[in-house]
Amino acid sequence: MNVLVLVGSLRAGSTNRRLADAAVAHLPAGVDATVFEHLAELPHYSEELDHDDVLPSVARDLREAVADADALLLVTPEYNGSMPSALKNAVDWASRPRGASAVSGVPAAVLGASGSPRAAQWAREEGVKVLRVAGADVLDDTVGVGAAFQAFEDGRLSDTALDAALRDLVTRLATHASRRHEAA
Ligand SMILES: Cc1cc2nc3c(=O)[nH]c(=O)nc-3n(C[C@H](O)[C@H](O)[C@H](O)COP(=O)(O)O)c2cc1C
Repeated sequence: MNVLVLVGSLRAGSTNRRLADAAVAHLPAGVDATVFEHLAELPHYSEELDHDDVLPSVARDLREAVADADALLLVTPEYNGSMPSALKNAVDWASRPRGASAVSGVPAAVLGASGSPRAAQWAREEGVKVLRVAGADVLDDTVGVGAAFQAFEDGRLSDTALDAALRDLVTRLATHASRRHEAA
């Protein structure tokens, strides 16, 4: 089982990357995770580029990574009340061709961290919405980390209740993915 992780912040020292790492550490034994490290290299989605002869190799890599994944974990900061364009762009690439896309039917969950106490709530809501529209099988609930610059200690969330919620969410994602895996 492999979970593909998309992290919407491109900066070193990202709190969302820390959240992604904390989530991966909570995955059940036997479930691997891969962070897609090339979001910054993806060109803006254009239907002109979306043909076999001109498809950017990084877009092909993303689609293959999504197709190979048993589940998706989207980890988003909040930029101006929404998810960052790099992350939306990745979902847009993964969502095509419509009806036969790599993301179709894939179990998914959304996490988010922001500096504000609102814990990237709007971005998380956007993440659930766009993944669902793209055809993923998204868990309704999300985990949000507010005041994210102070939220981590030794790679874990220092708020134990929030850490438990994170463990619960990724465990449910893995269970959901393994049921789908077995049914396939
Ligand atoms: C362009 C931009 C817009 C932002 N807009 C919001 C916002 O709407 N709400 C919010 O809570 N934080 C906002 N922030 C602050 C981010 O939450 C903060 O930079 C966060 O740490 C980004 O995640 P990262 O640590 O993973 O890079 C914004 C930051 C940037 C750069």
